Amino acid sequence: MKQQPIGVFDSGYGGLTVLKEIVATLPQYDYLYLGDNARAPYGTRSFETVYQYTLECVQWLFNQGCSLVILACNTASAKALRTIQQNDLPKIDASKRVLGVIRPTAEVIGNYSKTNQIGILATSGAVQSQSYPIEIEKFYPTVQLYQQACPMWVPLIENNEYNNDGANYFINKDVNALLGQSAQIDTILLACTHYPLVTEIIKSGLPKNMNVISQGKIVADSLKDYLQRHTEMEEKCSKNGQIQFFTTDSTQDFDNHAFNFFGKMVKSKHLDLHTVNS
Ligand code: DGL
Repeated sequence: MKQQPIGVFDSGYGGLTVLKEIVATLPQYDYLYLGDNARAPYGTRSFETVYQYTLECVQWLFNQGCSLVILACNTASAKALRTIQQNDLPKIDASKRVLGVIRPTAEVIGNYSKTNQIGILATSGAVQSQSYPIEIEKFYPTVQLYQQACPMWVPLIENNEYNNDGANYFINKDVNALLGQSAQIDTILLACTHYPLVTEIIKSGLPKNMNVISQGKIVADSLKDYLQRHTEMEEKCSKNGQIQFFTTDSTQDFDNHAFNFFGKMVKSKHLDLHTVNS
């Protein structure tokens, strides 16, 4: 029978912070990671562009045998997931599934706050989509949310330029702008899968009791729960504990940078975008 890895997609490296937690929680499955590094960042692109790019990558992951794909990217989850689920999946193959990272995060984030005031740091695209306020309201109607777009963070992180004064300037500026919206914020959600890399820089300027929440573990626990509830999908997923990495850009760059996100050395393969588009 054909191998059916679980597909994990991001615009670039950020999804590796999610994959790392998924593999720690569910090591038995096979995974196929695709980073669309050649077209990253997605955060400042239009809905139509993010949707088109994400659909192409999801389709490629399906073609490789994946029945289940995780969009480990908030921007893609905000701008493409719903349309893919509602319009494309029925046409492509109704038995396949695509899951995002916003819903599982929204389901639990309210539990972290005592003041009921939560700050969200995200890409411009994720903020503009209003996906977090809409989703969190469903689970925590009394929580007050404050959002801050951080358009410089993904380019700095993708280019390995996040450990210097220039990056500190942008990170502190955006964190201060978020906290300036309310003195009662006690929980900050890092609503972009790239941001865990700058957690320590963010925390260095914050009161010690501020919760700073990354999504990796939340998404991993949610996937575990999903597979327990959907045995028909669980049975399809192959279980050899193997992970493959693909990037649409340079494999050398990917392998050099991936360690920072995944915590292990990786050996990636190149995916030609012409193949994806055809
Ligand atoms: N990791 C993606 C996210 O979570 C980054 C998006 C981008 O490419 O700007 O939103």
